[in-house]
Amino acid sequence: MSEAILLVGGKGTRLRPLTTFTPKPLLRVAGVPFLTHQLARAAAAGVTRVVLATSYLAELFEQEYGDGAQLGLELVYVTEAEPLGTGGAIRNAARHLRSGPGEPVLVFNGDILSGLDIAALREGHRASGAEVSLHLTRVPDPRAFGLVPTDAHGRVEAFLEKPETPEEIITDQINAGCYVFTRSVIDAIPAGREVSVERETFPGLLRSGGFLRGVVDESYWLDLGTPAAFVKGSADLVRGLIDSPALPGAVGEAIVLPGAQVDEQARLSGGTVVCEGAVVERGAVVEASVVLPGARIGPDALVHRSVVGRQASVGGGCVVREAVVGDTAQVGPYNELPPGVRIACGVQLPAQAVRVSAPVAA
Ligand code: GDD
Ligand code: MG
Repeated sequence: MSEAILLVGGKGTRLRPLTTFTPKPLLRVAGVPFLTHQLARAAAAGVTRVVLATSYLAELFEQEYGDGAQLGLELVYVTEAEPLGTGGAIRNAARHLRSGPGEPVLVFNGDILSGLDIAALREGHRASGAEVSLHLTRVPDPRAFGLVPTDAHGRVEAFLEKPETPEEIITDQINAGCYVFTRSVIDAIPAGREVSVERETFPGLLRSGGFLRGVVDESYWLDLGTPAAFVKGSADLVRGLIDSPALPGAVGEAIVLPGAQVDEQARLSGGTVVCEGAVVERGAVVEASVVLPGARIGPDALVHRSVVGRQASVGGGCVVREAVVGDTAQVGPYNELPPGVRIACGVQLPAQAVRVSAPVAA
């Protein structure tokens, strides 16, 4: 038996309005809920039992996965009435673990797409005698993450969550959001209150001389917490830049799920996915984008690095770049949305009456 805890209780604030009705881990990435990719990878690494630590929109997880048999996993659901933070959630989920005090337990953030060798992290942990092993990666701009400098032997020297001053940026090594805890270390986290594993548990263990082991792994890694990262993660999966046992089609320029309709005169590229019930009309160009179930892209529209929400529509001739169109929103024909815009769920934008394609002569 090998157990894991998956942290999936966050509100996904940076992904609004996509996360208004769907929790971040259940958003469709490359055609299937993001969590399916993570669970399938965990199962492939020998994990047999997963405790899902839920809070925001908690009931939707069990509706999606039931007992987990389809994924070859035993799934257990735990819900926090009020979010307990990452450490509090791990402690709360531990009530449902079966591992003994000395056994390794994997813990995953629920929004990370990575090529990490999970089994190697777990086996290395066993051999090392560490209290916690942390997967680390290197990023060009570490400010949005937990900074984790290590010594020449891989021993963690400090844990600095979301540094605020330039002096704090002492390394490009960051916490990649996957850990192996020795079970007894989880049981020592205070129960029944909010705890941040990054701001309280790890710094506390280091202060008391604990052995935290950092393992730098530079395979594919992405936190899907922002719209740009979400779209990139989906496109990278579709194009095969990162493998997933859960990909619902062949790797290539696009995946069109059964039940979607794409006109022969439409062009899909860059790792686009078109989900079931969605329609892409004649002449539309959809590049590196996510078209969610039931969405409609009108004739000759251009959609680039964007997400079009469930049952949303982008009218004919629209130009939509790096945008998020919320569920059921309707963008009338010939709108050119400013890049980076987010349209709230259900909003209706009127058609632009005239499309100005060339300056009017004086
Ligand atoms: N159950 C539960 N309860 N889960 C939670 C809670 C909570 O109160 N708060 C957050 N989570 C879950 C989120 O759903 C997500 O899967 C994970 O914990 C991390 O939360 P994020 O909100 O995505 O954190 P972050 O991306 O800002 O930072 C974390 O991840 C970085 C790597 O991507 C930290 O762990 C950083 O240190 C790390 O570098
Ligand atoms: Mg995150």
